[in-house]
Amino acid sequence: MKTQIILPDEEGIAKAGQILRDGGLVAFPTETVYGLGANALDPVATRHIYEAKGRPGDNPMIVHVSNLEMLNGVARGFTDSQKDIMWKLWPGAITFVLHKHPAVPDVTTGGLDTVAVRWPERKEASAIIEAAGVPIAAPSANLSGKPSPTTFEDVAEDMDGRIDAIVKGEQTVIGIESTVLDLTSDVPTILRPGFITKSRIEEVVGGEVKYDPSLFQKPDSDDFHPKSPGMKYKHYAPKADVKIVEGDKAAVHEAIAKLSAEAVASGIKTAVLDYEGKGDEAAVRYFANLRQLDRDGVDVIYIASYDWDEVGFSVMNRMVKSAGYDILEV
Ligand code: TXA
Ligand code: MG
Repeated sequence: MKTQIILPDEEGIAKAGQILRDGGLVAFPTETVYGLGANALDPVATRHIYEAKGRPGDNPMIVHVSNLEMLNGVARGFTDSQKDIMWKLWPGAITFVLHKHPAVPDVTTGGLDTVAVRWPERKEASAIIEAAGVPIAAPSANLSGKPSPTTFEDVAEDMDGRIDAIVKGEQTVIGIESTVLDLTSDVPTILRPGFITKSRIEEVVGGEVKYDPSLFQKPDSDDFHPKSPGMKYKHYAPKADVKIVEGDKAAVHEAIAKLSAEAVASGIKTAVLDYEGKGDEAAVRYFANLRQLDRDGVDVIYIASYDWDEVGFSVMNRMVKSAGYDILEV
């Protein structure tokens, strides 16, 4: 398949909308990461997403909307207080799990009776959804298991020849995927942490917000049953081995210097990622850094971990998965 490159000007956005409406696959930038879109109401189109990504069929997709009518066409049964939470945080980097409308096909939601919905803020994204005129199912536009794409080049690396078109925009401004918040449980529950943090959501909810307990468990533990199916798969893994070194700052620096020196002495190419605990910065750069270090042929990546801020917790959630839970406490 020849993949068209589309610019996000007026003509390009109309074209992207047309391809989506006709059942095609189009990757496009959102404020979080690039998404791989298809008409969420067309089971044939959404099945093609699983094929293009090599994604397990029970991992449901996020449905993107750009107006109230679309929202009402994919989810139902939400209360006024839930609506209030949505309006305060949308458009933005947060996805809400809601009761599914019967119009949404099972392939889109992996057979669940709930649906994950997001109204993205980035202008190009909402313009493409408007142009399509249908809700757009869009997981991150990477091959399953690889780091999510935050640049056009990252998308092209994974998807060229596999999808109809890529909308070529600037690098994404947030850099990690949206927060996933389940609004169908008694207490709103964070299934995937993101740029919109627990304390921000608590402010808006005006009450308790929980983390899904599986966020703190290793996938091989007996009681690991994440509510978000995607959380059980191998994720965010570059070709290089990733090792997290955790502890106080001085000890982390010392340990990484020693480990790097040993590795280099035996001919291993190493790199260090140290974001100095700054979560926002780590979020923007982390996935892009992993992909660049792979291009550079690095064998081992050490991540320095100390004193994370709030968004830092969300980035750490990705780092731990990239590292296959390989954490060295120093
Ligand atoms: O920022 C983002 O969320 C990006 C952009 C493109 O919007 N999309 C994204 O999609 O990250 P994806 O498919 O890579 O991740 C969706 C996550 C998965 O962990 C999936 O299991 C979870 O959301 N999910 C989807 N539907 C769900 C549902 N009904 N209940 C629980 N979790 C759900
Ligand atoms: Mg993904």
